[in-house]
Amino acid sequence: MTPSNKVLINKDTTVNPIWIMRQAGRYLPEFREIRSKNKNFIKLCLNPILSTEITLQPLKRFDFDAAIIFSDILMLPYGLDQNVEFKKDFGPILGQLDLNKISKVKETDFVERVKQVYEAIKNISNNNILKNKNTIGFIGAPWTILVYMINQQSPKKQLKKDFFENKDLINNVLLIIEKFLKIHIKNQIESGANVIQIFDSWAGLLEEKDLPYYIYEPTLNLVKFIQSLNTPVICFPRNIKDYKKYCDFIKPDAICIDYEVDPIKIEKEINIPVQGGMDPKVLLTDKENIKKEATKYLDIFKDHPYIFNLGHGVLPETNPEMMEYLVKTVKDY
Ligand code: CP3
Repeated sequence: MTPSNKVLINKDTTVNPIWIMRQAGRYLPEFREIRSKNKNFIKLCLNPILSTEITLQPLKRFDFDAAIIFSDILMLPYGLDQNVEFKKDFGPILGQLDLNKISKVKETDFVERVKQVYEAIKNISNNNILKNKNTIGFIGAPWTILVYMINQQSPKKQLKKDFFENKDLINNVLLIIEKFLKIHIKNQIESGANVIQIFDSWAGLLEEKDLPYYIYEPTLNLVKFIQSLNTPVICFPRNIKDYKKYCDFIKPDAICIDYEVDPIKIEKEINIPVQGGMDPKVLLTDKENIKKEATKYLDIFKDHPYIFNLGHGVLPETNPEMMEYLVKTVKDY
């Protein structure tokens, strides 16, 4: 059994697997080299040879216990034929949302538009480097995808003023998102993904009263769907105020925590396996501090099933040497 499965399935507390969100990306010179020659990010995600290579880049350098497929949560609106572009130093920009148009998209149309992602997953999961390691597939949570589709760009700290105005549109779009997320998950698993992570990056934007409708219910449907395919699922509701309530409702196989939440409180309150937590900015400091901070998380979760990760994606300014030191620290613990 892989180290991550020992934690996720057996609730083993004696192993400390490690992988890092955004482990394939801009902090690696070998990624920047490919990226500089491939200006269109979506096209790069849809190039199975290059996306396979990029996914494997961090595993060639570091002893990570999982590969996370090089793709993006916005492949979902792309597959629904909403325009998606990435502007340098700005982030994603989406085209106008046309409910009539996305309502007509068929499963076969969607799969045709993103099938290269599944092809890459097949290549990756069959590669020898993944022996005794996991291949992580992923999706954005319905709420976070809805935010991008309606807001048409990252909301940073707040949503468009009229975001919630057209309830009918929201209800319809949420149903379409849920349907196609299931299709996207099923294809990833059939291609070789053996863990799924759900990224709810904008969970922290909602008020408590809106959580059941936008987060708890649709995410629970997806978690049950993934578990029905005998695949463990990790949820990352970034900045959500009450992680315990979220876990009690959704019951994922593991919960990934952000760096603002108190890990001691999480360890006490939450009974399922935990992942992540350490502030990505720690990797911008020195080795002594990296060791101190990583050890802090490992000590807190010593008797709790725990997968080491950060509390958000690794920052582009990170020196790969510091990543290497972090992996060594976790493995030597
Ligand atoms: O974790 C991994 O290594 C796997 C690949 C992955 C990417 N995006 C590649 C990527 C994953 C899991 C994602 C998820 C994702 N994408 C999220 C959820 C996690 C989070 O960050 O909160 C979100 C919100 C997105 C949408 C997105 N994609 C944004 C906002 C941006 C631009 C800003 C940024 O942080 O880079 C992207 C672009 C993106 N996705 C890059 C990568 C490597 C950078 C592309 C580049 O300019 O080279």
